[in-house]
Amino acid sequence: MLPTRKERLAHLLARHSGMFRCPVCQAALTLHHTASLVCANRHCFDLSRHGYVHLANAGYRSKYEQEMFLARRTISEKGFFSPLHAVVSQKLVECAAIGDEPFCVLDAGCGEGSHLARIREEVNNRRPVDFVGAGVDLSKAGIALAAKAYPEFLWCVGDLARAPFADGSFAVILNVLSPSNTREFARMLKTDGLVIKVVPGERYLQELRERLSMQPGKRTYSRAATIQHFAASFSLIDCERVAYSFRLDQPSVAALIRMTPLTWGAEPQQLVKAHELAGREISVDFTLLVGKR
Ligand SMILES: C[S@@+](CC[C@H](N)C(=O)[O-])C[C@H]1O[C@@H](n2cnc3c(N)ncnc32)[C@H](O)[C@@H]1O
Ligand SMILES: [Zn+2]
Repeated sequence: MLPTRKERLAHLLARHSGMFRCPVCQAALTLHHTASLVCANRHCFDLSRHGYVHLANAGYRSKYEQEMFLARRTISEKGFFSPLHAVVSQKLVECAAIGDEPFCVLDAGCGEGSHLARIREEVNNRRPVDFVGAGVDLSKAGIALAAKAYPEFLWCVGDLARAPFADGSFAVILNVLSPSNTREFARMLKTDGLVIKVVPGERYLQELRERLSMQPGKRTYSRAATIQHFAASFSLIDCERVAYSFRLDQPSVAALIRMTPLTWGAEPQQLVKAHELAGREISVDFTLLVGKR
């Protein structure tokens, strides 16, 4: 019989439970009876039958919902992020310290998890490594989707502000279009670890923003502040623009409208205009920040 998702997770945790720490008291977590992670102070976190572990303190809620994550996955499968994944994977192979030991990569703010899956595939095409992937997100809906689709990774619900991982656990931290916590990232990275942060560029979804009559100014300011903060926290070894255009078919436009917060609160006539993007190209524009501790 095939192992259940929970059994697959327990098997992974048996090898890698040292990667985790208690989100309540920060003590080490160990696997107990292949059913839960427990710390010395008896804080106990059960493995979900869906194949992830919930390591956030009680009471957190995320506004990101299942529908948005499914839309992200739909558009991701259509290749929306493929050029980005290619560049990130290349950076990983070029800049990260890949040795004989497991190559531990965390996707921080992973959502539905497809970035990590695609990036592992691309890294392995370039160079076979013992890639051990973990993903953390505050959204249970996102993590549940990730665990269902990609049971080969360690998925957990957790808060980046009190990340449930031990010091020096990761060779690489990926942080794609998500908030960061640079202090926690630095703590979780190995000494020569790499952090790759992806932020939207100036022209990201420009055509959609035009149809929604949005002003570009505020985004430019917040991107500059993000880059400055990143460069103050890590030694910036690379800052690269990854820009391309993506042809939207009808299902992709519908997915795009559902996946981006840009459309939240839009007027019906603005959404009609947005749907007219079907059959057209849309600008995809990212800035990739690569830093070392
Ligand atoms: C725009 S989504 C991007 C998700 C994914 N990286 C992607 O590109 O599809 C931002 C993500 O950050 C997560 N997030 C926000 N604050 C967080 C926190 N404090 N800890 C963990 N995840 C957080 C959200 O739940 C959401 O999944
Ligand atoms: Zn504890």
